[in-house]
Amino acid sequence: MRKKIVAANWKMNMTQAEAASFVDTLLRELGDANDVEVVIVPPFTAIAKVSEALGALENIKVGAQNMYWEKSGAFTGEISAAMLRELFVRYVVLGHSERRMLLGETDEIVNRKVRAAHEASLHPILCVGETLEQRENGRVEEVLSTQLRGSLAGLGVKEIQETVVAYEPVWAIGTGKTASAEQAQEAHAFIRRTLAEIADEGTSNKIRIQYGGSVKPDNARTLMTQPDIDGALVGGASLDPRSFAQIVQGAAALAEK
Ligand code: PGA
Repeated sequence: MRKKIVAANWKMNMTQAEAASFVDTLLRELGDANDVEVVIVPPFTAIAKVSEALGALENIKVGAQNMYWEKSGAFTGEISAAMLRELFVRYVVLGHSERRMLLGETDEIVNRKVRAAHEASLHPILCVGETLEQRENGRVEEVLSTQLRGSLAGLGVKEIQETVVAYEPVWAIGTGKTASAEQAQEAHAFIRRTLAEIADEGTSNKIRIQYGGSVKPDNARTLMTQPDIDGALVGGASLDPRSFAQIVQGAAALAEK
């Protein structure tokens, strides 16, 4: 059984004070959700605050929204994996469509970052997903396959297994348009088949694939009931600790079955 993983991608939101108050409320709302792995992904400036507020809690981890692949040096504005590790970061979101589209990240760049993350024992949350135009032109599988193969190139089986994949159809991000459970399941199943080709079937069956794109408390559970959907990467709804707690609780309820 794959343990569900639900992550809060705060994007460029939340000051340190807001982050601390979010964690306070979340811990109160969440109760016992030990059957789900929860990851809070603040902007860099609030990571230390969130780590401190979470203390030694084992099932809630901290993630980062990006990193650079070099270890140190003249890379103004960039952050290394070791810098993140020092702040107790365990996951790093890589290849998010906002970075691919606004900042020109290619599969090759994402691949360098994915490899550097694994070298530093950070688990990548690798985002893949098609645009509306690509979907309408029947290119979903081609796009997903290219992104997965490009981003995971050169990785060993163990590293692939320790990567979380997030299927985020670009047309569903921040738009209020969620993929239907069937559309999402179809894409997730394709991603799992592709991962089996890249690694092997046993490995592919262990990899967790999150869905992302307008996940809200009222649609999260239906999505996560699908056999190949192992959690959610939540943007907008993760800014409210109560909504986010409800999404986590939805995942926890499924785990208990
Ligand atoms: P959204 O964002 O939930 O606001 O659609 C998801 C994401 O970009 O990870």
